[in-house]
Amino acid sequence: MKVIYPGTFDPITYGHLDIIKRALKIFDEVTIVLMNNPRKIPFFTLEERFEMTKKATEGFENMRIDIHQGLLVQYIKTHSAKTVIRGLRALEDFEYEFEMAMTNRQMCPDFEAIYLMTDLKYLFVSSSMVKEIAQFKGELSKWVPQVVEEGLRKKFQR
Ligand code: COA
Repeated sequence: MKVIYPGTFDPITYGHLDIIKRALKIFDEVTIVLMNNPRKIPFFTLEERFEMTKKATEGFENMRIDIHQGLLVQYIKTHSAKTVIRGLRALEDFEYEFEMAMTNRQMCPDFEAIYLMTDLKYLFVSSSMVKEIAQFKGELSKWVPQVVEEGLRKKFQR
């Protein structure tokens, strides 16, 4: 079975990578779809996120990366993989995911989503948190791969 993993990945963290590794053990192919979340102002451009995600997942087999601008259901309707995977950390994630899934299903009755529980280590990791740590030059190696750390440092130097 082929699944898609949509998100802003702004930037990709070890929390996201944990979900991808778990998904690759279960599904035949995982496509990471980099998108914009209209509720967030992106820090990295889609192209920068694409490059970082590509380098962070080097060596991962049966994985593809794509970019999509628009609704998630528009992507689903035009691609063979129809099932979405998402990571869950805490109860707040469930509420947000539930709202998104119900809205997506209203627009596309075929929409299905599968939720994977994140590793305990990454329960509190978020892209916002790593950006905040980077802004104040804190230690990042526990939360993001080196390529993301370099990307964050460069961006904050400008
Ligand atoms: N471990 C650690 N952190 C995790 C995680 C995990 N397993 N999974 C998610 N996170 C964090 C991320 O770091 C991110 O943190 P942030 O809020 O500080 O940025 C947050 O949880 C979720 O981000 P991410 O999974 O990267 O994407 P998103 O939730 O912003 O993505 C889209 C949402 C893009 C899928 C959604 O907005 C969308 O579908 N957009 C297109 C428009 C559309 O179709 N809208 C209709 C839907 S209602």
